[in-house]
Amino acid sequence: MKSIENDRTVPFFNYPHVFISEEDDFLSIMKDIGHRGAFIMQKDLVDFEKNLASYTGANYAVGVGNATDGLQIALMAGGVEPGDEVIFCCHTMVATAAAIHFAGASPVPVETGPDHLIDPDGIEAAVSPRTKVIMPTQLNGRTADMDEIMAIAEKHGLDVYEDAAQALGSRFKGNCAGTFGKASAISFYPAKVLGCLGDGGAILTNDERIYQNILSLRDHGRDETGEVVRWGLNSRLDNIQAALLDYQLRNYSKVIDRRRAIAHLYQERLCDLEELVLPPAPDSDPNHFDVFQNYEIEAERRDELQEYLKGQGVGTLRQWGGKAVHQFKKLGFTQSLPFTEHLIERMLMIPMNMSLSDEDVEYVCDCIIDFYSADYAD
Ligand SMILES: Cc1ncc(COP(=O)(O)O)c(C=O)c1O
Repeated sequence: MKSIENDRTVPFFNYPHVFISEEDDFLSIMKDIGHRGAFIMQKDLVDFEKNLASYTGANYAVGVGNATDGLQIALMAGGVEPGDEVIFCCHTMVATAAAIHFAGASPVPVETGPDHLIDPDGIEAAVSPRTKVIMPTQLNGRTADMDEIMAIAEKHGLDVYEDAAQALGSRFKGNCAGTFGKASAISFYPAKVLGCLGDGGAILTNDERIYQNILSLRDHGRDETGEVVRWGLNSRLDNIQAALLDYQLRNYSKVIDRRRAIAHLYQERLCDLEELVLPPAPDSDPNHFDVFQNYEIEAERRDELQEYLKGQGVGTLRQWGGKAVHQFKKLGFTQSLPFTEHLIERMLMIPMNMSLSDEDVEYVCDCIIDFYSADYAD
């Protein structure tokens, strides 16, 4: 039985929401493309790639099947080879490590910092003669302190590739996630801030040579004449998905504003709870502009809180099913990363999406405050 008398339920994510709110426009875009028979590598994809590049400030954007392929293709395009090591943060999706693995290199997981992003000290400690790349994950819609990461890369002669799957539009010192290193990948998985109706992704790069390699790697290793010039993948962003993304990109800043407003509400209501650590509030640090892909808190008695919220109709999620990548021992990882292992026991994502009303957010806060009130603490 609910202890807060209320019929409200707040799911963690509402998958039909985007389609239902944009249904008429989406259907007319799909109809137009269907009638043109323009499904693969057509003008709509080219337009989206141009608009995405211009939005992020990258020289080039290339649509691909998903961000996992995007990261793999980016590394291959930049010349990462078997024997190379790629340092990445263990608090990320297994996709980051898989992309490194399938590019032929060895993924080397390192610690998470208190901001839930890659720990610069962890990077320094993991650099070896085989290290070729640092790949920070710009997690939860926040971009890492890229001055620090680029300085470490420069000191050791390493390249930087960003996993920006969760970070389209997020900025550090005014520059967009995904534009700092050699290349990066963004995900358009439906639950992403910019999501499509299925799988989708894009690679960003400022490097003309890498761009040319990416174009061919995503399309069976063919060059612009259709000649096969290398081994390649089939990983192209569908033209329909590109058109739907392009349409949504036009209003993207409003989406970000709303997510930041929700983060403000959470901050206002929850900041006095000693049992919680909240993400940095929007505008709390002028160097960071966060888009709040997720709102990931740290909580005392996390498991009990999650159960309690479930009973109140509030959906929550432990990112990656509650395990950091190096804890997937069947993948061969041997590292022990104690700070992340401590964090992972405390982290919980509470609802953060465009279907939330202010009342929903207030309700989630009421429930959390109620849980930590004297009645439930004993
Ligand atoms: C941090 C991170 N990296 C990579 C990916 C993989 O993205 P995709 O599902 O588009 O392959 C995701 C997707 O959720 C992610 O969150």
